[in-house]
Amino acid sequence: MRVLVTGGTGFIGSETVLALLAAGHTPIIVDNLSNSKIAVLDRIKTIAGVRPVFYQVDCCDYDAFRNVFEKEPVDAVIHFAGLKAVGESVSKPIEYYSNNLVSSLVLLRLMKEFGVKNIVFSSSATVYGVPDRVPLSETDPVKGATNPYGETKVMIERILEDAYKADPSLNIALLRYFNPIGAHPSGLLGEDPNGIPNNLMPYVSQVAIGKLKALHVYGDDYPTPDGTGVRDYIHVCDLAEGHVATLKKLEAKPGLVVYNLGTGKGTSVLEIVKAFEEANGVKIPYVISPRRPGDVAENYANCDKAYRELGWKAKYNVTDACRDAYRFQQQNPNGIE
Ligand code: NAD
Ligand code: UFG
Repeated sequence: MRVLVTGGTGFIGSETVLALLAAGHTPIIVDNLSNSKIAVLDRIKTIAGVRPVFYQVDCCDYDAFRNVFEKEPVDAVIHFAGLKAVGESVSKPIEYYSNNLVSSLVLLRLMKEFGVKNIVFSSSATVYGVPDRVPLSETDPVKGATNPYGETKVMIERILEDAYKADPSLNIALLRYFNPIGAHPSGLLGEDPNGIPNNLMPYVSQVAIGKLKALHVYGDDYPTPDGTGVRDYIHVCDLAEGHVATLKKLEAKPGLVVYNLGTGKGTSVLEIVKAFEEANGVKIPYVISPRRPGDVAENYANCDKAYRELGWKAKYNVTDACRDAYRFQQQNPNGIE
């Protein structure tokens, strides 16, 4: 398939581009490089031997994006493009709603104009809100998120549902990712956050190379086995494969489908610290700090549906992800340059 990949130079997008190439698809990347580097394309070439077609275009810019559709016939779209920092979305709600919603609406308009029927959307476990119970299944209620970033995911899911009601010939997959971590095993591609990381794994990796002094563990008084927050950490390579499996599903014209992409296993912050230390033979100093506002105690997925219907399940564990994240951090102490 010829697959338009918005946000294709980002963390999950670039890994998915590699998985698409390996599966024999042709990715066409559109990214405005607001949170990724052009050098990602060289690294994809080093790993896969192919430099994918790339357009530096903002998906909110109808005219520029239309030119891409004019030039590139596509069979499907994977829509990764979006702003994703939870904390930043609280201080910049207008930018988040505007970027994430407008880019999606422009994309849907263009898909309609050019008769493109298949789309995979990067949603998030955040749409479930504070879970009543874990593991979370796709049938659990979408209670809404606790921040503007998460709300954009809820709204875009809703927009896609309405688009499907109006045109049942569309095939739409809403993929709710849990916590993506890790990096490509080559150490060439991985998570490259600006400034001090907000997420656990990049923070731990930067502590490991001495860039940051100590991890702040946000709360050790949660009702979890060791008191620290529990999440479902999924290796980014597994997540990328999940997209390839989803595209195959869309070929069978399933209409609108929803899948949790996680591992089905919860891991605490202290278990991640231990796994990182053991995988890499390093010490991660940490201090227990107050809870972070908005965090939930436990969040992990029931991924049976993805296995049943896509034949997909995660292959890597958190130790693999810790090893790959550290390798990427060591090889790229200042990110992808
Ligand atoms: P990322 O920031 O690395 O990648 C997103 C890419 O989109 C970046 O390269 C950025 O430059 C690009 N982009 C942003 N706005 C754009 C626009 N208007 N036009 C064109 N390009 C634009 O993030 P990621 O971690 O790879 O996440 C990919 C998707 O998955 C996002 O939609 C994110 O919300 C979603 N998601 C991520 C996580 C996570 O923890 N990483 C969890 C759940 C869902
Ligand atoms: N944590 C720390 N110290 C840190 C960073 C995180 O103790 O410096 C803890 C958090 O309290 C939490 C766990 O590590 O218990 C994971 O935190 P992350 O920030 O890595 O991830 P979140 O689960 O908070 O958020 C992620 C994505 C969001 C997404 C959300 C819901 O970053 O985009 O999952 O699925 F919305």
